[in-house]
Amino acid sequence: MAETGLTARPGGPLRGRVRAPGDKSISHRALILGALAEGRTEIEGLLEGEDVLRTAEAMRSFGARVERTGERRWRVEGQGRLVEPADVVDCGNSGTGVRLIIGAAAGFALTATFTGDDSLRGRPMLRVLRPLGEMGAAWLAREGGRLPLSLKGGGLKAVSYRLPEPSAQVKSAVLLAGLSAAGETCVIEPEPTRDHTERMLRAFGAEVAVEAGEGGRRIRIAGGQRLSGTVVRVPGDPSSAAFPLAAALITPGSEVTVEGVLLNPLRTGLFVTLREMGADLAVVSEREEGGERVGDVTARHSRLKGVTVPAARAPSMIDEYPILAVVAAYAEGPTAMRGIGELRVKESDRIAMMAAGLAACGVETAEEPEGLVVAGGGGARPMGGGLVRTHGDHRIALSHLVLGPGAPAPVSVDEPGMIATSFPGFTALMAQLGAAIG
Ligand code: S3P
Repeated sequence: MAETGLTARPGGPLRGRVRAPGDKSISHRALILGALAEGRTEIEGLLEGEDVLRTAEAMRSFGARVERTGERRWRVEGQGRLVEPADVVDCGNSGTGVRLIIGAAAGFALTATFTGDDSLRGRPMLRVLRPLGEMGAAWLAREGGRLPLSLKGGGLKAVSYRLPEPSAQVKSAVLLAGLSAAGETCVIEPEPTRDHTERMLRAFGAEVAVEAGEGGRRIRIAGGQRLSGTVVRVPGDPSSAAFPLAAALITPGSEVTVEGVLLNPLRTGLFVTLREMGADLAVVSEREEGGERVGDVTARHSRLKGVTVPAARAPSMIDEYPILAVVAAYAEGPTAMRGIGELRVKESDRIAMMAAGLAACGVETAEEPEGLVVAGGGGARPMGGGLVRTHGDHRIALSHLVLGPGAPAPVSVDEPGMIATSFPGFTALMAQLGAAIG
């Protein structure tokens, strides 16, 4: 079915206070750990985006009772184990969903077949299948370890696995499999990645040891531990909050506050970078919620300068490079983003998609095999006016729509439907702030 595009029109300043949708990473994990646990898990603030709803459905097919009890409130009744699903498990667009569920399922004596949409079927799964294979899981996949794939789990033995790529999804898959393996599993990550799985495993009653030392972080988990249901409060997603905050930074006269944003330092690399660019970003009411730091973040329109983003910062802002590229188009001088080869295997090749999308809006960029340099406007605003191809990637669509309100000419994106995978209600939220996106 043909999909109608979405257009962001030039307009006045953006103003107001909003709440970001629930954190996607924590939402997936709450459902998966709830299904693995014994007893009841109550989740408040779940992201009701399509990716997470797929994970909820998948957990039902693995034997958990999962129900919506109110707005963004969900209940999971876990059985302390996963059972064989009766049908193919379709994770839609979600790399996090499928990779974490494959890891969790590998620990049980079951066979399951996984698939996803066009984008997910093109993404690399060997990165999780390789360590799970070492642990004793068997699998059969399309060439290059692509979906659809079938997994036969159970009888796992612990491994010590050094992550070849900085990936929280791979780390999490191995830790979840390790939970049901014989012996102690150790994941070594040379560069720290988001640590929600480690934190949440503890909240569900597991013992997880984390040591930072030479060669990186070592995360150890003993197999055979039981998880117990708990209460999970999901904070606002900094990766989603980034869009209205960035819109305020680049649209003259704006001041926008996003409340309850997760401030885990392994997720806030974008905020650090924006401050280096000269952004007026203020955090107030910092507090602890459900084992995570959260706060209200205010962004005011700022005069920005281009920067070089240290490659080592990439894992803490991996999903934020597309929106940073848009902000960089409004900065004076070039912004160089390097060491971001992982962006080529996201929902789309995000380096190529941003270079093409920004070019369509009159912004000069230079694409590198593992990097992107945005020329910066020398103080002038980018023209806009482009029809941007998103390749069904929500963050490519969201980023270009944010470029719209501050540019002289409207910006349109194709396939905006995918925005609902991570940011349902985006256009309504932006309208509340005064942006004309429709
Ligand atoms: C995620 C990890 C990151 C990120 C994704 C969510 C997670 O992926 O891009 O949106 O929840 O663990 P990688 O592990 O592939 O870096």
